[in-house]
Amino acid sequence: MSRLSPTDFAAHGPLRVGLIGFGCVGQGFYDILEQLPNAEVSVARIAVKSPTKARPLPAERFEFNADALVHDPTLDVLVELIDDAEEAFRLVSTALRLGRHVVTANKAMLARNLPALLRLERKHGGTLLYEAAVAGSIPVLRTLDAHFGAEPLLAVRGILNGSSNYVLSCMAEQGSDYATALHEAQALGFAETDPTLDMAAFDPRSKAVLLAAHAFGLLVPPERVLNLGIENVTAADIAFARSQGQKIKVVADVRRHRSGAVSVLVTPQLVAADSPFYTVEREANGVEATAAFGGPQFWRGAGAGGHPTGSAVLADVLALRRGCRYRYAKLRPEAEVRLAQNLELNIYLRHPDEAVVGEALDWLGLPGAALAADAGGPYATGTVPLTTLLAWRDDLRARGIFVARTGEVRKAAQSILLNSAVAAETAA
Ligand code: HSE
Repeated sequence: MSRLSPTDFAAHGPLRVGLIGFGCVGQGFYDILEQLPNAEVSVARIAVKSPTKARPLPAERFEFNADALVHDPTLDVLVELIDDAEEAFRLVSTALRLGRHVVTANKAMLARNLPALLRLERKHGGTLLYEAAVAGSIPVLRTLDAHFGAEPLLAVRGILNGSSNYVLSCMAEQGSDYATALHEAQALGFAETDPTLDMAAFDPRSKAVLLAAHAFGLLVPPERVLNLGIENVTAADIAFARSQGQKIKVVADVRRHRSGAVSVLVTPQLVAADSPFYTVEREANGVEATAAFGGPQFWRGAGAGGHPTGSAVLADVLALRRGCRYRYAKLRPEAEVRLAQNLELNIYLRHPDEAVVGEALDWLGLPGAALAADAGGPYATGTVPLTTLLAWRDDLRARGIFVARTGEVRKAAQSILLNSAVAAETAA
């Protein structure tokens, strides 16, 4: 991170924050500030959507026009913590056009619009920080940006979704059924309003897109990234993993291949006991970065919840006071970062009906010999091109088939150049 002049802030003394959104993370952030009066951050205005919703603060603390905060020059920092990615983009991009300093945790909004947001930040001199958008409380973006700005990274892998990890832990540890565990994750405030985003791995896909930008300088549209989730996982899959001495975890995998191309995918994966991800349980997240000279490093911390995510928001607000901004050191105009195309993935898939497993084998071009069975019913294993899985992803999901990776990503000789195309699209 580099420094802005501290005089960029209009006020001296406590920073005046305009808070947009007062859900789980907004309340967590607010509550942390109540407990840390010495942080010298004051929430001056709070904008929310619904005038009728019950809230834990007096009604006069709330207003209902977020644009008024965006345009209020007496606010030093805007903290955007709403659910709606489109409205969040409208507010954040307006604020950046005005040269404002913005902190957001909206990973879906960021992943979809990062090139456009970066252009606005650079053109108008504002600042956009979003540590809370990836891996909750773990300071991964700042570490990649500042500490690994010069050193090449070989891979960044992570459990990036607390809700799905919570569900998998409850199923494996307590034998909970999927629906009960998901209900618990929702009640604890970990899940998105639409939990499909968590369970079908759209949420960790957004986070992987942000990691790819910071770690490798790759700007990849989220829809080009394979995301397989756990909506169809059953006790038979958990038992299969256990029979191999393994656990199922949803792992984002961003890596540079020998060709120089970078691959990005998020899938359930069978992980062995010697993997750092094996012991990441419940709403915890874990991120492993492997650097060219530093080797592998692993960070673990709370990945969801009001206080852990609010703590990352506060860290960004305080970083703004020090004049920090992301350097995006790997995102250089002259650097041709290509998206790896022809990966091959080792997979396991299962469905209780053998005919459905057979159908999936046909879709994926796997031989019938891949079909096997155990006490949990029929399943199959094999090696499948990434492009085939991308093409059949929605059908596999809709048909109730659970798919997990069983090994490392292999081969990546072909690639496509994305950054200039993405930049051109977003410039239009
Ligand atoms: N729904 C997200 C999760 C919240 O479960 O990880 C934190 O981004």
